[in-house]
Amino acid sequence: MKEASTGRSRETIRRSSRRVFLRAAAGVAAAMSGWRATHAVAGTRAPAGALTASIRLDESAGTIDPNIYGHFAEHIGGVIHDGIWVGRDSKIPNVEGYRLALLEHVRRLGPVVLRWPGGCFADRYHWRDGIGPVEKRPRRFGRWREVTERNIFGTHEFIRFCRLAGFEPYLAANVGTGTPEEFQSWVEYSNAPAGTLSIADERAENGHLEPFGIRFWGVGNESWGCGGTFTPEDYCTEYRKFTTWVAGYGVPLYLIASGPNSNDIDWTRRFFKKWADGARAPMQGWSPHYYCGTTGHALRFTRDEWYLMLEKANAMEKLIRDQWAAVGEFDREHKIRLIIDEWGAWHPEGTEINKAHLFEQMGCLRDALVAALTLDTFNRHPDKVVMANVAQLVNNLHSLFLADEDRFVATPSFHVFEMYKPHQGARAVRLDFAGEDIGFEAQGRKGSIFRLAGSASVKEKDLTVTLVHTHAAEPCELALDLGTGRAAGVRRTVLTHAELNAHNTFEEPARVVPKSDAPALEGSTLRIELAPASVTRLDIRLG
Ligand code: AHR
Repeated sequence: MKEASTGRSRETIRRSSRRVFLRAAAGVAAAMSGWRATHAVAGTRAPAGALTASIRLDESAGTIDPNIYGHFAEHIGGVIHDGIWVGRDSKIPNVEGYRLALLEHVRRLGPVVLRWPGGCFADRYHWRDGIGPVEKRPRRFGRWREVTERNIFGTHEFIRFCRLAGFEPYLAANVGTGTPEEFQSWVEYSNAPAGTLSIADERAENGHLEPFGIRFWGVGNESWGCGGTFTPEDYCTEYRKFTTWVAGYGVPLYLIASGPNSNDIDWTRRFFKKWADGARAPMQGWSPHYYCGTTGHALRFTRDEWYLMLEKANAMEKLIRDQWAAVGEFDREHKIRLIIDEWGAWHPEGTEINKAHLFEQMGCLRDALVAALTLDTFNRHPDKVVMANVAQLVNNLHSLFLADEDRFVATPSFHVFEMYKPHQGARAVRLDFAGEDIGFEAQGRKGSIFRLAGSASVKEKDLTVTLVHTHAAEPCELALDLGTGRAAGVRRTVLTHAELNAHNTFEEPARVVPKSDAPALEGSTLRIELAPASVTRLDIRLG
């Protein structure tokens, strides 16, 4: 029986015994070595309730690729139709048919990548259906669920949206029902200069003289499932056929193979064993998908389910380490990087704002913490993860926006993405935590979760620290040691709410929004109170 968890009365959760914790990746990966574990034992034991964190400005795992803040838009439900595309003649404010409010918001997120057209849709999609005069484009049926796809939003419309929004396009090609020839011709259509090939001239006739210049190409999607139900060996055979000869026309192609369902190591090893046994087909990225699922319901959950959900989100840490190691068994120089091109929470049906919007769900404060934990995890692994795409941009699973006709609202997760923007392109630096953890019992098992997680990065004199405080009810005091650094000024931005399931609605769009202040903090140790159930960003000017 679920209980609504909306208040902050005295906690009922159990505390673990007072101890310094060593925790990341649901307790597993931290064993591992070195600072890349999120939390490492930091000296002496901290008093109960107190937390310490320390930053090592001289230890970096690399530069954070802005594309780990990437997005995903599939032809399902209300993502493209209604979410992105409202039509040129719509009364809804738009730019060339694209929803104006969406454009205004995504431009605030930085120039990152947008994946399209799927998802499972990609492995049934024939790109030629979406080019040429709109009135002549075919209607197709059942490309994801049994609905008609009118193909009024095709390659040109997608690229135009990317240009208006400031996104870099990432196309996912059809391996499930397509052919290597079809894939190669999509690359030619996109990248060949007009005048060199008939297919490039066709693009020009369709209104785009200049090549699109597309770098990122996914070769199938979830090939273990909707993308063809292949065995890893069979998918490897297909992958080879699709990629052995593809011309880029001056564009260095970045080819991404479809990875496992969550952290399925066996799938990864079997694929790469075959890949390495033969000629190694060109590949730059390997894309596991990880949905952390749900606990309870999108908006109704217990406190224990709150903690369990955050623990599930934290499994991304172990996935990254495990997949990186498994790929490295075959790609010893680690030329292939991880692309987590679908991730997020996936709640049961029931909070759709429009029943026609497949998978649409309401995102609340809990989803914002899931997003923040996940982005912090990516930030800590810039050497391994170079792209990630939250699923999906609008009107879907872990969406940043909800839209229906002329109504539009940004979810708490949007605010996390905007808060975390200063990490994009910054140098990740080591951040260790010490403090107590929190015990919980949910779905018939006992677990525990760290009280604080986060990441840190530096750009010239600007140090950005993002922190996720998981405790559902109590604030804590953090002593943040900057090591060799010294703060000359601090600005703090906090996203939280007194209700764990607080969310933004069309009627109340600013219920969960970040608030900023400039606390009078200086020196090499900063003492900061962290609100319960919060995401905090500290902008620290180094003196
Ligand atoms: O994001 C929704 C669906 O989830 C995608 O189509 C598929 O790739 C995944 O299983």
